Amino acid sequence: MEPPPELKRNSFPSMNFEAEILTTPHDNSELYTIPSMRSLTAEEYVEAFKSFLDHSTEHQCMDEFNKEQMPHIVAGLGPGKSTISVLGVGSGTGEQDLKMIRILQAVHPGVFIDNEIVEPNPQHVAAYKELVKQAPDLENVSFIWHQLTSLEYEQQVKEKGTHKKFDFIHMIQMLYRVEDIPNTIKFFHSCLDHHGKLLIIILSDSSGWASLWRRHRDCLPATDRGHYITCSGITAVLRALGAQHRVFELPSAWDITECFRDGDALGARMMDFLTGTKNFLGTAPAALRRRLRDALCQPECSSTRDGRVIFSNNLSMIVVES
Ligand SMILES: C[S@@+](CC[C@H](N)C(=O)[O-])C[C@H]1O[C@@H](n2cnc3c(N)ncnc32)[C@H](O)[C@@H]1O
Repeated sequence: MEPPPELKRNSFPSMNFEAEILTTPHDNSELYTIPSMRSLTAEEYVEAFKSFLDHSTEHQCMDEFNKEQMPHIVAGLGPGKSTISVLGVGSGTGEQDLKMIRILQAVHPGVFIDNEIVEPNPQHVAAYKELVKQAPDLENVSFIWHQLTSLEYEQQVKEKGTHKKFDFIHMIQMLYRVEDIPNTIKFFHSCLDHHGKLLIIILSDSSGWASLWRRHRDCLPATDRGHYITCSGITAVLRALGAQHRVFELPSAWDITECFRDGDALGARMMDFLTGTKNFLGTAPAALRRRLRDALCQPECSSTRDGRVIFSNNLSMIVVES
């Protein structure tokens, strides 16, 4: 019997064993992560995320959902209550949260809104607080920020034995980075009061991200520490929990044209967001850069409009009953 081909190892001077493992491609290809490649820090993530938001219709897509569906979804919340309790998980800088609070105010005039936020990034928390300070129309709303990950919040709740119930909980584009997706959903679903609703917004199975993760995962560097999860992964968890839910699919697009221009600062930041890697274009081996750019151009990921490369960022809005 032929012995298996020996795995090619990449060694550089003064490289430790861990670095050597990192640089050794498991399939003997040249598409590997080199030691200078690293994940984004929290501050760098903020910058990269902003460049994504500025060049995608992510928030416009959510606005459309807010306008068309949210008033009906929140109409039955907290029947007869004078206070509606809301929990935002992974709320970021709060723009989406405030839009939802304003819908609640419009649908339930005069009701007090008690809003709690679980968000681990200190910069995001600070920006959210600033946004609230600048907002003139939030007098019937109270805010409590927990600068924690969802798991830390869960542990705190369990330790204190104070299992507060909420009428509305949302987890918008944040499940990619939680430690354990099924348990996180199970825990926050258990935090819903009677007639409460949990809104999960996640990338759709029809998005370019889904194709990239399904077909070209080997193009993505190991520095991207997120979960490659889309709508069907979440609905499978909900089915296993026996939680009743509805899914709304909405189109969204991301203009990634600059990602193909060497030396373009915006393109570099967007590639960092896409790969979860700091300075991906400056640190990834040429073959890896080429593979990823090729994958991004495939029709299952993007289309071309007026000479621009438009990556599909379609979203799924999942509304879960208590
Ligand atoms: C893509 S942003 C979405 C922010 C906001 N929900 C929106 O749609 O604009 C993801 C957010 O989840 C937060 N996050 C990351 N890991 C988390 C965790 N384990 N628990 C809670 N939030 C987390 C990040 O700090 C970030 O603010």
